[in-house]
This record gives sequence, C-alpha cells and structure tokens, in this order.
Amino acid sequence: MATSGFDIKGTDLDAFWMPFTANRQYKSAPRLLVEADGMYYKDINGNEVLDGTAGLWCCNAGHSRKKVSEAVSHQISRMDFAPTFQMGHPLPFELASRLSKMTPAPLNRVFFTNSGSESVDTALKIALAYHRANGQPTRTRFIGREMGYHGVGFGGISVGGIGNNRKTFSGQLLAGVDHLPHTLDLDRNAFSRGLPEHGVERAEALEHLVTLHGAENIAAVIVEPLSGSAGVILPPKGT
Ligand SMILES: Cc1ncc(COP(=O)(O)O)c(C=O)c1O
Repeated sequence: MATSGFDIKGTDLDAFWMPFTANRQYKSAPRLLVEADGMYYKDINGNEVLDGTAGLWCCNAGHSRKKVSEAVSHQISRMDFAPTFQMGHPLPFELASRLSKMTPAPLNRVFFTNSGSESVDTALKIALAYHRANGQPTRTRFIGREMGYHGVGFGGISVGGIGNNRKTFSGQLLAGVDHLPHTLDLDRNAFSRGLPEHGVERAEALEHLVTLHGAENIAAVIVEPLSGSAGVILPPKGT
C-alpha cells in the first residue's frame, strides 16, 4: 500500500483509456498523482512534483486553494445543478455579466461550455448560424492555421493543423476548410529575443484565400494568438 492510502493493485488500468497517452507504456509504469497544494503535486509514493503547466493550463490560481474549495463546497451543498434549458440560476447571469465587462466591445455575450473543444465547435456553429440569420448563408468556409490546435471535436480537428490529430480522420473532416501557414521559422527566428523578427508576410496568405474563395463565402478565421500545442510558437512582429 502506498503512503497515500491509494492501492491500485486490484485495479484494471486498461479500463481507463487515456487521451494523448501511450497507454501500454504508461500502464506498465503508471505515474499517479494523488494530492496537490499550491504549485506542487504529490505522487502516490509521497514525492513532490512541481506542476510546471498548471494542471493542463487549468489550475492557474494554484492547487487546492482554500477560497476555491470553500466556494465550490458551499455551492454544491446548497444546489449541485440547475438546468439552463428554459430555466436558470442567478450566478451564471452574474458571471456572464462580469465577463462581458472585461472583454472589449462588441464581445458582450457569453456562452458557457465545458471544454476548449466544445468551445471551438460551438464557435464554428455560431459563426455559421450568425451568417445564415444575417442573410449571408454562403459564408460557410473556415480558415485555420497549420500547427494550430483547436481541440478534438470534428470541428476543432478540421480547423486545427496538427497532422497526427487529423490523419486518422482524413476525408471525414469538415468540408471547405483552408489553413494559413504556421509561423515556425527556425532558420530565421531561432533564439530570438521577444517576438521573432521574421514571418509577418505569412499573414498575406489570408488575402490570397480571400481572393481565391471570395469574402462572401468565408464564415470565420480561427487562429490561436499564440500557438501552444504543436510547440509554443510566438507570433512574428507585426502580426
Ligand atoms: C486554443 C485551444 N483551443 C482548444 C483547446 C481544447 O481544449 P480542451 O482540451 O479543453 O478540449 C485547447 C486546449 O489546449 C487550446 O489551447
């Protein structure tokens, strides 16, 4: 029995199919985290592990913050869930209203989702629905970027530009998607201090695609301001 009180000897590790993980290799020597405090995890054997990525970029305020756990525990003991189909709860309205004050105009409506993948697929749908409702139903094409990561839904991998995420589903992705070139340019930008000098001209590809397809057929362009999953790729100066 490990010091944590967890015992995995009788657990069928194969039952949990882990995403973005070499499952056989991982399960032959599992690294199990069982506690967290501030910026450290503790593994099943009691070793401290520095959490250099804030969970998966989702625990940026630090782990096990008392204020956060008290707020969650207070809410869950009062009401664990309320539907948002035709009904509601005051707090999402308050949160949306506070967020809309932080975002620049005209970003003043909030649609809550459970993940980035769901957010991206929803954003693509909202773009299509918006143009249709706005009397421009021909605006259906999307433009993403090579090496971009937009999650694992069909929409997200379609506009995303990571070959390994796409190739298994080739031919089944969203139709009418083009990709801008990525901005990784090691020959010219390696070891740059601050934003890299070279590559602003790659943004011109957008103009070419607009000329090729016609703006009236393009629904949206989706790019990460700072590419993060296919390597952290800083945008060149001027983009
Ligand atoms: C830009 C971007 N879009 C979408 C996603 C997908 O988010 P999730 O892993 O929550 O589905 C990520 C995740 O890192 C992301 O960085």
